[in-house]
Amino acid sequence: MDKYIISGGGRLCGRLRVQTAKNSVLPILAAAVLTDEPVAVCNVPDITDVKNMVKILSCLGCKISYRGQDVVIDSSCCDSCEIPRALAHELRSSVFLLGSVISRFRRAKIAYPGGCDIGLRPVDLHLTGLKRLGVDISECNGYITCSCQKLTGNEIMLDCPSVGATENIMLAAVKAEGTTVIKNAAREPEIEDVQNFLNFLGAKIKGAGTGTVVIEGVKKLGGGDYQPIADRIEAGTFLIAVAMCGGEMELGGINAENLSSLLHKLRENGCKLRIKNDKIYIRSDRRPVAVKSVETQPYPGFPTDLQAQMTALCCVCAGNSIVTENLFETRFKYVPELKKMGADITVIDRTAFVRGVERLKGAVTVAHDLRGGAALVIAALAAEGESEVLDISHIDRGYAGFEYKLRALGAKIRRVST
Ligand code: EPZ
Repeated sequence: MDKYIISGGGRLCGRLRVQTAKNSVLPILAAAVLTDEPVAVCNVPDITDVKNMVKILSCLGCKISYRGQDVVIDSSCCDSCEIPRALAHELRSSVFLLGSVISRFRRAKIAYPGGCDIGLRPVDLHLTGLKRLGVDISECNGYITCSCQKLTGNEIMLDCPSVGATENIMLAAVKAEGTTVIKNAAREPEIEDVQNFLNFLGAKIKGAGTGTVVIEGVKKLGGGDYQPIADRIEAGTFLIAVAMCGGEMELGGINAENLSSLLHKLRENGCKLRIKNDKIYIRSDRRPVAVKSVETQPYPGFPTDLQAQMTALCCVCAGNSIVTENLFETRFKYVPELKKMGADITVIDRTAFVRGVERLKGAVTVAHDLRGGAALVIAALAAEGESEVLDISHIDRGYAGFEYKLRALGAKIRRVST
C-alpha cells in the first residue's frame, strides 16, 4: 500500500490542465459494448477505475488497444454477458454495463455491487427502470441475472435523480423498439456527455441535462473517436486546495458552468475568481472566510463529490460552517482523520458542524475512500509540519498523477511504497 509524505504550509502557485472526467469515461466505456464498430475514447485518465472498467470489457470479449492515452474498444467479438464478481466489487460503476450488455445479448449477469465506504448505494432504481423496458430480473446468491426477449421503449419515472440509473436506462433504451422517456432523470454534465457520445454513434437522444431524457430506439450504432468532457470534480479539488493553502492557479480545459455551485462558495470564502473561455483563474491571499452552510444536492446543486474537500477548507476558515450530506449515508469517514490534524468538527447524522481553526497541524492519517482521501491530502498541504496519508490506492481510483500535479503547483508531496 502506497502512502504520501507531505510537508505542509506552502502556497500553491502554477497552472494545470484538467483530466478527462472519470464519471463520463466510465459510462462511455460501458456504452462501447452497444456497437460493433471500433470506438476510441480519447485522453482517458490513467486511474484505477478506468483500468478496471477496461478489464471488464476484455472479460466480455471486447478487443482493447491503446493509442497513446486513447483507449480503442472493438466489441464486434464480444462473447460473454457475465461481469466477473471480483471486478464488479472493485468497480461499483460496473453496474452501468447491465444496460449495454442486455441490449447486446438479451442477457446479463453481474455480482451485486453491494455498498461501499460512502453508503448503501442500492441499485433498485436501475433494476426498476430495466424492468419497465421488458427485462426479467432475478437476484440470488449475490448475483443479479437479467434476460429479455426484446427491449421495448417505455416511460420511466425515477424516485430520485440517480446518475447511474439514468445512464443505465439510457444505454438499455438506445436500441430498444420505440421511444423511452426518463422522468426525474439526473442532470449532471456527465449525463449530457453520455448523450452526446451516443448521438455521435448514431443514437437519437435528447433532453439530457433537463431532467427529462427522451430516447428514440435505433437499429444500429456506428463508431469513431470521442473526447469526453473535463473532470469537474478534479478541477474543484484543486480549486479548494488553493483556497485552503493560499496562492494562485490557472486551470485549463474546464467548463466553469459545470462548477458554478462551488465557484459561488469560493467567492463567499473570499477567493478572487476569473473565468475566460475554458480557463478558471483563482487567487487566495488571506485566510478564507467561513461559508455559513454547504448542502450537497443533485446537479446543479453543490456536488457530493466535493463535500469532503469543502469540509476540509471549512476547518481553517475564519468562522463556523455547517456541511450537510444529503445524498449518501456515510460520507464523513474522513472526519476523524481531520480531527487528528486538530480540526474542530462534530458530526451528527448527515451534518458536520465545523468551527474554523487558524492552522491544522501535520499528522498521520488514513484514506478511507476516494474523495475523503483527496480531502486529507489538501488538508495536509495546508497544515503546519509533516503529514502522512496512508492507503492512497483509494485516491489512485480517481485522480491521475495527483502528486505530480500538486508538485507542479509547488507542493512538497512524495509517494512512498510501503
Ligand atoms: C455517481 O454515482 C458518481 N459515480 C458518484 O461519484 C457520485 O457521487 C454520484 O453519482 C452522485 O453524484 C459515477 O458516476 C461513476 P447515484 P451513482 O445513483 O450513480 C440513491 C466519485 O467519487 N440511489 O446518483 O452510484 C443512492 O443511494 C463517485 O466519483 C438509490 O436509492 O450515484 C444515493 O443516495 C462517488 N437507488 C443517490 O441515489 C439506486 O438504484 C445518488 O446516487 C441508485 C441510487
